[in-house]
Amino acid sequence: MDILLSGSFDDAERDAWRAELQDALPEARWHLTATPENAGLITAAVVANPLPGSLQGLPNLRLIQSLWAGVDRLLNDPTLPDVPVARMVDPAMSAAMAETALWATLSLHRRFYAYAQQQHAREWQQLPQRRADEIQVTLLGTGQMGRACAMRLLALGYRMTGWNLRGGTLEGLPLEHGMDALWPLLARSDIVINLLPLTAQTSELLDQRFFNALRPGAGLVNLARGGHLVEADLLRALASAQVSHAVLDVFRNEPLPSDHPFWSHPQVTVLPHVAAATDMRSAARIVVQNLRALRDAQPLSDLVERSRGY
Ligand code: NAP
Ligand code: GLV
Repeated sequence: MDILLSGSFDDAERDAWRAELQDALPEARWHLTATPENAGLITAAVVANPLPGSLQGLPNLRLIQSLWAGVDRLLNDPTLPDVPVARMVDPAMSAAMAETALWATLSLHRRFYAYAQQQHAREWQQLPQRRADEIQVTLLGTGQMGRACAMRLLALGYRMTGWNLRGGTLEGLPLEHGMDALWPLLARSDIVINLLPLTAQTSELLDQRFFNALRPGAGLVNLARGGHLVEADLLRALASAQVSHAVLDVFRNEPLPSDHPFWSHPQVTVLPHVAAATDMRSAARIVVQNLRALRDAQPLSDLVERSRGY
């Protein structure tokens, strides 16, 4: 089996992935570039946000396996071959996301950002303390990531509601779906955590209309994609205190430019896209399961519905 490994890695990261994948599937031949000599041999591509156009000209390609959970950049490549695309679904990654959501929710609920500012100003002031069951947390997206976050937050006693596209039921988590349900849900939300995929429908969802619909003083946690957020609208919502604090892990331009107002904004916490990094050891094994399924003509896992965008 000949497999192309392609992505926006630096050399050390690429070599580490190749070693891990080679270890997990020693019988495969791994290629780091497609050439006229190997193009016809390659049947699968393992990718991490590859450059647009880099998967063209592979006549026998039968699977594109992403090392990332979100496939928005991949699907935006107009030259992407029309073959199945699988995304990374890894319990280790969902667990990491749940840790980040837990930390951000606790920090907002228990006013730890306000206390950090008070410490900086040497100010001793005890702020009102609310119980977890008085805090409404809204999860935008109840997929692999959203569900893992919900389980951890429910265990702490938060009042939780999930919002998704198709509705359905999830044990212990009330669900709402569709745009009509979003606005009343936002009006009673103390904390909103975004875990949506970036699609044509969800792009720039976090805009002025969204912020105006929130319960005044709500906290925002964006762990999904920078393209969900209209940054200027958030800055306005923070200035008016409609949003009290934003925890942002993802940005329209990454790395966040050094002159960006978010860096020094007292009501913004900036993370460098680390909410849930792909875990190389577990991810390599998950990738190899799908590659073996492809080789053995078995059903593939975690396929993306390309028409839906996630
Ligand atoms: P997933 O399993 O595909 O779940 C997506 C969820 O979003 C589903 O609940 C889906 O609804 C909902 N959804 C999609 N379009 C919607 C719409 N138009 N309106 C309302 N709900 C909609 O994805 P996941 O694995 O949880 O990952 C979610 C995103 O997290 C990824 O796409 C990626 O952008 C981001 N992420 C970030 C990091 C990081 O480190 N910051 C790491 C991993 C992932 P249904 O349930 O009805 O289908
Ligand atoms: C990270 O953001 C991912 O989508 O895996």
